[in-house]
Amino acid sequence: MKGIGRNLTSYGDADFSLFLRRTFLTSAGYDGDDLERPTVGIADTTSDLTTCHRSMPELVESVKRGVLVAGGLPFRFPTMSLGEILMSPTTMLFRNLMAMETEELVRSQPLDAVVYLGGCDKTLPAQLMASVSTDVPAVIVPVGPMRTGQWGGRRLGACTDCRGAWAEYRAGEIDDEELRGIEGSLCPTAGTCMVMGTASTMSCLLEAMGLVPPGGGTAPAVTAERLRIGVEAGRRAVALIRAGGPTTRDVVGPSTIRNAARVLAALGGSTNAVIHLLAVARRAGVPITLAELDAIWREVPVLVDCKPVGTGYLEDFHGAGGMRRLLAVMRPFLELDAPTVFGATVGATIGPEAGPAEWSKVIREPEDPVAPPGGIAALHGSLAPDGAVLKASAASENLLRHTGPAVVFDGPEDLAARIDDPSLNVTPDHVLVLRNAGPVAAGMPEAGSIPIPRYLAAVGVRDMVRVSDARMSGTAYGTVVLHCAPEAGVGGPLAFVHDGDPVSLDVPERRLDLLVDPDELEARRQSWQPSTPPERGWRHLYAKHVLQANEGADLDFL
Ligand code: FES
Repeated sequence: MKGIGRNLTSYGDADFSLFLRRTFLTSAGYDGDDLERPTVGIADTTSDLTTCHRSMPELVESVKRGVLVAGGLPFRFPTMSLGEILMSPTTMLFRNLMAMETEELVRSQPLDAVVYLGGCDKTLPAQLMASVSTDVPAVIVPVGPMRTGQWGGRRLGACTDCRGAWAEYRAGEIDDEELRGIEGSLCPTAGTCMVMGTASTMSCLLEAMGLVPPGGGTAPAVTAERLRIGVEAGRRAVALIRAGGPTTRDVVGPSTIRNAARVLAALGGSTNAVIHLLAVARRAGVPITLAELDAIWREVPVLVDCKPVGTGYLEDFHGAGGMRRLLAVMRPFLELDAPTVFGATVGATIGPEAGPAEWSKVIREPEDPVAPPGGIAALHGSLAPDGAVLKASAASENLLRHTGPAVVFDGPEDLAARIDDPSLNVTPDHVLVLRNAGPVAAGMPEAGSIPIPRYLAAVGVRDMVRVSDARMSGTAYGTVVLHCAPEAGVGGPLAFVHDGDPVSLDVPERRLDLLVDPDELEARRQSWQPSTPPERGWRHLYAKHVLQANEGADLDFL
């Protein structure tokens, strides 16, 4: 059954279930004409605690209008929301929970199609995962990025400039008063972080995958264009119902996943997107490994001049033609026959390549890239047998080949407690190692961008090699090796590193090694004890079933 008769409540009498449903919907003011229409759910992630989504209520109204003018019946329904800055210990711990909750809400309610409204980092991946796992046609609409702010003649944006300002403060270059001034200008409007962090990366990837209306990856949250994109999404959702699809699952095939990986490289995008892409590919039944992704990343240069790899912001990217123009510039790299939910292939929906000369400074030609191919690298070696990831385009050239003695921190709390302790005698040649921050041990927080010890920062040290089983914010930068798998929490090699052990990073060779005698490592392995997992609730379920980062950190039963 379709429309409000879909997914009937089980009372053992389908006609009675439908009668009750009509009765209660009538009580909400719907009439007979309304109840004959195809139904479109609007998954709303508005929350006072997800500040990036504060413009979402207006976006909901625009989607509703699109649904209504196309002859559908819109139903807004709230779902879990994941505000990156206001959740502990990390939103990543809840991505799969949100994906499960969203999937079950879509499966259990009378929805012929869904428009998912997300934005802040883990919300879009969760919605994409949910959408891949249902057979309900869908359109995704990111809430859109913030506009930039100004302070003291500086142009500011969350959150690469948050990190820059904090590093200056730790180094004593700015005082409390200046920091407070900057604080007031880093997030000046509604929307998601306006650099190429995880939210922007995922919004752009979803547009490249043909699941977001054209322009929807980059249009600022506070613009009228964003509202028109909402209207278009509502209309499109009704058209998908009438056409019988395609569903997200129909669209997310091997060519779409490969195209997304190519676009990730061209964006200089967030390493978090690697985990999300692996999770989505697994759900979609598209086998792809880190090594295969690395081969793709070696072909595509960074083409978008956006922080943290470049110098600009999302509004600049949008003004230079956004994703439609990037896809046109990337034409030689893409599989143009990949399907989209907009009734045509990727090749048929991309925009014109030409534009004013200024546009080419923001969206570069492959011959004049922001950074060479290999901007993201997948590493393997004795410290990460199942892989690790490094954003080479945001790393220091002189550290891409480096061997140094380890300084080991046993978890995010230990890191916070000791990183500035001068008795550690850390030098710029040391390799900072953080363990027990992987999916099982800690839900994989964004703790991998280990701060430079304050006494080194004060003498101008801005980067060191850092290695962990954690993640890093897409807005961060540095020579930071992430996602080491298997993680220390399940007995991966990170668990056996001692202070002073030589750690070797060789990005050109894609290697990460612990230079310790294998017999010695085996002896350390024998005395290793796993920590006790959480005893109850979601954290218990998560720790028991979460997969490693190289498999997307989804739950094994999803
Ligand atoms: Fe929400 Fe950056 S904190 S997108």
